[in-house]
Amino acid sequence: MGFYSRLIVPAALDWVMSGSTFSEYRRSLLANISGTVLEIGVGTGLNLAHYPETVTHLTTIDVNPGMSRRAQARLAQLHCPTHHQVLNSETLPMGNNTFDHVVSTWTLCSIAQVSQALAEIYRVLKPGGQFHFIEHGLSDRPAVQIWQHRLTPLQKRIADGCHLDRPIQALIARQFATFTVEQFVMPDFPAVAGYTYKGVATK
Ligand SMILES: C[S@@+](CC[C@H](N)C(=O)[O-])C[C@H]1O[C@@H](n2cnc3c(N)ncnc32)[C@H](O)[C@@H]1O
Repeated sequence: MGFYSRLIVPAALDWVMSGSTFSEYRRSLLANISGTVLEIGVGTGLNLAHYPETVTHLTTIDVNPGMSRRAQARLAQLHCPTHHQVLNSETLPMGNNTFDHVVSTWTLCSIAQVSQALAEIYRVLKPGGQFHFIEHGLSDRPAVQIWQHRLTPLQKRIADGCHLDRPIQALIARQFATFTVEQFVMPDFPAVAGYTYKGVATK
């Protein structure tokens, strides 16, 4: 992993994604989470301040060690025990049926083998466990989709593998039989980057 991914991307992401609009979505996504939790693609740890006291243990992973350095300081502030590892979410070392909840925020866009990662999320969830996600992805408007497909090769280079055109609902539906999802464009964002899927899937 090069200098750009390890140093520039984490600093830029921390700046761009710490705004109040993002914070409000993080807070509402995590408000009803409890017990043992796995967060994939924790990034610089911008969700950590929003985990409620009902969480008893938090495991976090990220493939980028440059992200992990920034997340460590925020992990140290958490009310419950935590365990962080630099790991690829496509191959998780955790056993089957381990977690009450798994969380992913703006991360499925960047995972190279996203279906494999979703299969791993499903595997490590306990029966009845829940996967909470907020992700940007493919718009429902064909005119926007055209630009999302056109711009994705550039976006992948600038934003460390991020795709603008992932069909998030279809990807979730391939792995989970039961889920709810809201779709909307994030305020103040162009639809090409701000078309959002927020929901919960149950194992
Ligand atoms: C756009 S950032 C979002 C970070 C964080 N979830 C947030 O909401 O601020 C995407 C994150 O996914 C991580 N990532 C990308 N591919 C990954 C993979 N295969 N396994 C684990 N993490 C991955 C990146 O390193 C990055 O930290």
